[in-house]
Amino acid sequence: MTSTLPLISRISTPCKHLGDPGPDRQLLLSLLAEAVHVPDHGRLRPWRFILIEGEARARIGETLFRRVQEAVPQASATRLEKEQTRFSFAPCIVAVVLTPVKGHKVPEIEQLLSGGALCMNLLHAAHQAGFGAQWLTGFAAYDREVLAAVGVAEEENLLGYIHIGTRRESPPERERPDPAELLTVAAP
Ligand SMILES: Cc1cc2nc3c(=O)[nH]c(=O)nc-3n(C[C@H](O)[C@H](O)[C@H](O)COP(=O)(O)O)c2cc1C
Repeated sequence: MTSTLPLISRISTPCKHLGDPGPDRQLLLSLLAEAVHVPDHGRLRPWRFILIEGEARARIGETLFRRVQEAVPQASATRLEKEQTRFSFAPCIVAVVLTPVKGHKVPEIEQLLSGGALCMNLLHAAHQAGFGAQWLTGFAAYDREVLAAVGVAEEENLLGYIHIGTRRESPPERERPDPAELLTVAAP
């Protein structure tokens, strides 16, 4: 797989604007191979993936709908509909799971950072392969019942759902920070 798309052209595509086709299994594995080219202090590999595709998307959407209804009784019909359909657009959703190694000399915050960098790598890999993608969390990332329905264990954390598919609409570019304004130079 070769691509010349510069990373600076990456932009998130809202998941509702993603559709078929997504990457097939072989291409997905090569995107994940790029994603795991990530700094990993201590080579702990404190992360894993769960692929959500096909019928699993509707099943998890139903669990999410029910759990938001239970936990947020004041949730509007619009919010509930959004939650129910959240997983129905992109054909390929990769749940990136942190499997922290407890009590290791590499602090858990560094393991978390490695997992975050992995999510970003996956967004870049999807972009370079010509797909649209979006990193989402929300209620679905923190409710233990939803997480159990996805396959995330109690001792694990969900770092992000990376929705990947073909863009139905191109998102407008938005203003980005000016790096010159963020940069200071340390005193010699
Ligand atoms: C950890 C993390 C979680 C996010 N969760 C959500 C989310 O639940 N809902 C949402 O609308 N955007 C979420 N975002 C923001 C989008 O992924 C994305 O950054 C945003 O749409 C801006 O697009 P950009 O990537 O082109 O800057 C999250 C971003 C990060 C880094």
